[in-house]
Amino acid sequence: MQLDQARAILHEWVANPALRHHMETVAACMGAYADVVAPAERERWMLAGLLHDLDWERHPTQAEHPRVGVAFLRGRGVDEEILHAIMAHAPYTGTARDTPMARHLFAVDELAGFIVACGKVRPDGVATLEPSSVKKRLKNATFAAAVSREDIAAGVAELGVAEDEHIARCIAAIRAVA
Ligand SMILES: [Fe+2]
Ligand SMILES: [Fe+2]
Repeated sequence: MQLDQARAILHEWVANPALRHHMETVAACMGAYADVVAPAERERWMLAGLLHDLDWERHPTQAEHPRVGVAFLRGRGVDEEILHAIMAHAPYTGTARDTPMARHLFAVDELAGFIVACGKVRPDGVATLEPSSVKKRLKNATFAAAVSREDIAAGVAELGVAEDEHIARCIAAIRAVA
């Protein structure tokens, strides 16, 4: 599957602009990491990001998300490594994050949501957002309280990157998303 096909499917399944934007930001973060870790896989890593919450608007329960989306995408010929990463972004599925793609998807998903939340309370959005400001807000449990700090910390630990570098890379990727 190509990225433009994936976007068409995304627009079919997801009406909520905020959720569409979330999936675009996660795709951008995945692309930024692929540039460093797996340049030849860039498009596939972005597909995993773009499609990971495909079914969330229609099927938000833990029983269905992301299984319904994965079953649909399997029928559309999306490869098993991407489907595995999509399953693994939801810890409650018990799917092991045992591939670089799965680890990176998990590590950028919640953080991307958090960075967008940080941008929303700033006059210039994410344009001048710094990792230090993101870290300060992460310590404030009442800010974007739905975002799991535990998952963000686990994701960074699994990548073995410095937290500042991880946050900076994701901010830069998200800035590039319209
Ligand atoms: Fe999800
Ligand atoms: Fe997500």
